[in-house]
Amino acid sequence: MDLDKKLIDNFVNITSKAAIACHKYIGKNDKIIADKAATDNMRDNLNKLNIDGKVVIGEGELDEAPMLYIGEKLGTGIGPKIDIAVDPLEGTNFAAKNLPGALSVIAITSEGNLFHAPETYMNKLAVGKDIPKDATDLDFTIEKNIKNIADFKNKNLSDITACILDRPRHKKIIEDLKKMKVNLKLISDGDVSGALLVTDDKYKVDIFLGIGGGPEGVLAASALDAYECKFQGRFLFKTKEDIFRAKKMGINDLDKKYELNEIVKGDSIFCATGITRGDLVKGVTLENNKYITETLFTHKKSIIKKVKKEFPNT
Ligand code: FBP
Repeated sequence: MDLDKKLIDNFVNITSKAAIACHKYIGKNDKIIADKAATDNMRDNLNKLNIDGKVVIGEGELDEAPMLYIGEKLGTGIGPKIDIAVDPLEGTNFAAKNLPGALSVIAITSEGNLFHAPETYMNKLAVGKDIPKDATDLDFTIEKNIKNIADFKNKNLSDITACILDRPRHKKIIEDLKKMKVNLKLISDGDVSGALLVTDDKYKVDIFLGIGGGPEGVLAASALDAYECKFQGRFLFKTKEDIFRAKKMGINDLDKKYELNEIVKGDSIFCATGITRGDLVKGVTLENNKYITETLFTHKKSIIKKVKKEFPNT
């Protein structure tokens, strides 16, 4: 079922207000407080909406996270049944340290259309819509993926840029990319934004890859779907607890590679508001006693846009 366009403004307001709530904690070197401010605000405002919502991607499960946990019901209960993925503060380090890239992010679909997953890692691959869908794959070697992209873009390998989280677990991939003379965009955090850099040539990123948060993968997939980009993800269930939780949620094939349309089905809305300035959107500013926010939103069935909003400083 398609989502009502009127929901877009509601959700732009949700991430905008969460970003504003977090604003006063930017640069306080306390990521817990910043995260709590964004999360509490997001939950309060979601509960005011006339929706029958449920968190399917959130901050852990009931027993371990007091806020916006997987399975939590949200909204007044009157209105459309929707599944919600939340990351009230994506890039907790960025906000705490006053660095570019902190976002407040949400994605929604009609009930049953957003993948339900426990909080775990995911191996991800994203490329732009100009690359044929069969040219890249999580199961190809890194060399094959890069060479195919270079061929289709008619570029040299040294003109290709790969974005990846700068983590010790990516040492081998980073070395392989260096051997091929591929340019790196090594991000210290924030791989929702990292994945979305393949959406437009202006970001100069040809491929996003590597292991990051599973929830961030699902959120990015929803926006990438609207941009008609390719995304694949494979969850990494390592501990016994991860495996138990995955099975409890109905995931039996633990090694399954998920295509975008298995993660996000049908129509979806994605909103990302800048908390600190970043590649995708500007950060929150306070001017003349008004907060100004910038939000990138996508509605698969209708529109992709950036919107500026003003909110009084109450
Ligand atoms: P937080 O906002 O929860 O701190 O996540 C930031 C982030 O960089 C995500 O964008 C990314 O998916 C994940 O952490 C990677 O996890 P790790 O830091 O454990 O490699």
